[in-house]
Amino acid sequence: MSSSGYLVHRRLLFHLCKSPCVLKRRVGQQRLLSTSGRCRTIMPAWVIDKYGNNDVLRFTRNASFPVIHYPNEVIIKVVAAGLNPIDVSMRGGYGSSTLSMKRDPLNIKQSGSEFPLILGRDVSGVVMECGLDVKYFRERDEVWAAIPPWKQGSLAEFVVLSANEISHKPKTLSHIEAAAIPYVAATAWSALVNTGGLSKDKCANKRILILGGSGGVGTFAIQMVKAWGGHVTVTCSQNAERFLKGLGADHTVDYTAGPVEEPLSQLEKFDLILDNIGGDTERWALGLLKPWSGAKYVTLVTPFMQNTDLLGIADGMMQTAATVATKALKHLVKGVHYRWGFFSPSGPTLDEIREMVDAGKIRAVVEETFSFSQVPQAFEKMEKGHARGKTVVQISQGGT
Ligand SMILES: NC(=O)c1ccc[n+]([C@@H]2O[C@H](COP(=O)([O-])OP(=O)(O)OC[C@H]3O[C@@H](n4cnc5c(N)ncnc54)[C@H](OP(=O)(O)O)[C@@H]3O)[C@@H](O)[C@H]2O)c1
Repeated sequence: MSSSGYLVHRRLLFHLCKSPCVLKRRVGQQRLLSTSGRCRTIMPAWVIDKYGNNDVLRFTRNASFPVIHYPNEVIIKVVAAGLNPIDVSMRGGYGSSTLSMKRDPLNIKQSGSEFPLILGRDVSGVVMECGLDVKYFRERDEVWAAIPPWKQGSLAEFVVLSANEISHKPKTLSHIEAAAIPYVAATAWSALVNTGGLSKDKCANKRILILGGSGGVGTFAIQMVKAWGGHVTVTCSQNAERFLKGLGADHTVDYTAGPVEEPLSQLEKFDLILDNIGGDTERWALGLLKPWSGAKYVTLVTPFMQNTDLLGIADGMMQTAATVATKALKHLVKGVHYRWGFFSPSGPTLDEIREMVDAGKIRAVVEETFSFSQVPQAFEKMEKGHARGKTVVQISQGGT
């Protein structure tokens, strides 16, 4: 059985196995949270009440305490929260139509509003309470997760997530380090494995080009491909070259020195391109792939959310489908595959990544850490760009 199959199987076994000893321990376990009383109906959090620039971020001690609605959910005490470019975009309203539909597909909520909204897509913390159907996790477990953008985020003292979305945190990482990985890891995995077709056994000696290697996704993707024996070329600013070689990149190309497609076209052609940059890269990047060999170009910069924000769900989806189908066909006749990659939340994927982290094959790249009171400064830093890894906010000191 492959390691991914084994990890999914292990989760399933835990779910099915209701051995008396497991039940006894669970029954005997103390609740870590009191659900009665005012102190447990509110919590501190950074929220936004409307979309806009950094001024819309508001600290409150009175955010609604998360509630377990489904038996497979857990409440997590957040120790550290990681930020991603999507947090800055969501603060400005990015994806509001699509995400509202995901939050409330039947339009049942009376308020008709997603506010107050809590941002923050990465969490590392401690399980405080489990729904009745949760078997694989227990109170006090240290866990990490990438939070789907339609759920309330981790810039708060507590967050509620489905057990399918969380995973036990790597033992070798602190909470701050662990919070730097899930969102970019789940995105890189979805793009490289699910869309790009790479795997531990199908990567050795493949030539991978990562456009934009120095940010959150790039620094993770480099390490993942190197752990699987691939050959990695990255584009980055000249001042990031040494940093990325330190993470394992075999070859770096400075995009600030002139049109980057020129030095790239001198190189042997690639089996897969991961594009973290977008813009005009599509014009030249697919010409760098080996034709008629199953080579793929996967871009993470897609107009999907903008289309639905601008045109509404139905027209936006139609426009998106038409765009991607036209582009895929245009490149297919030239012998290369054109694909869009998307973040996909998954606890089992994080289980696999934990094994790579604990085996010392992947490390967390934390560029800067902020305290809970410095969330606006953390957003300012993100907005300046030029990331060299991840920005993390410490929410609490850890423990229960
Ligand atoms: N589709 C999805 O579901 C999904 C999920 C996650 C991320 N994304 C997207 O993927 C992209 C990357 O995400 P991220 O978290 O890695 O962003 P990030 O942390 O902000 O990193 C971007 C990096 O690219 C570098 N860069 C900028 N322009 C470049 C260029 N022309 N060539 C090469 N490098 C360049 C930047 O450094 P310098 O400016 O100093 O060179 C920075 O290090 C973002 O656009 C994000 O929105 C999409």
